[in-house]
Amino acid sequence: MGPVWGIPVATQVHEVSAGADKALCRLDDIPDGCAIAADIDSATGGFSLILARRGDSVLAYHNECPHAGRRLDWSPGKFLIKDGNVICAAHGATFELATGAALAGPCRSGLVALPVHLRDGVVYLP
Ligand code: FES
Repeated sequence: MGPVWGIPVATQVHEVSAGADKALCRLDDIPDGCAIAADIDSATGGFSLILARRGDSVLAYHNECPHAGRRLDWSPGKFLIKDGNVICAAHGATFELATGAALAGPCRSGLVALPVHLRDGVVYLP
């Protein structure tokens, strides 16, 4: 099976403040087996996440490749997903979505995970 490009989904933008869970998106915003980006505003300039869905679970990683610090998506919110792995658009490093581990390419270290949780079909950043 050839590469499967992530389905274009609007990037979610939310403001993060201390002390309260922040909604990132609805579970249904992430096609099963795909990933979307969530750009988070913060007092220090913000950051981007990759939110990957498998069934009813969602994993979150910083949308930053450990190789050269580039975003993993080839266009905002559009990721190259193949066989449960995400491939960095810059130089092709491959990471296992289930663990964030580096599998191939110029990276030795994996993606940095962030905890997220689901409540009533909504994905939250604690
Ligand atoms: S920045 Fe991702 S492989 Fe180089």
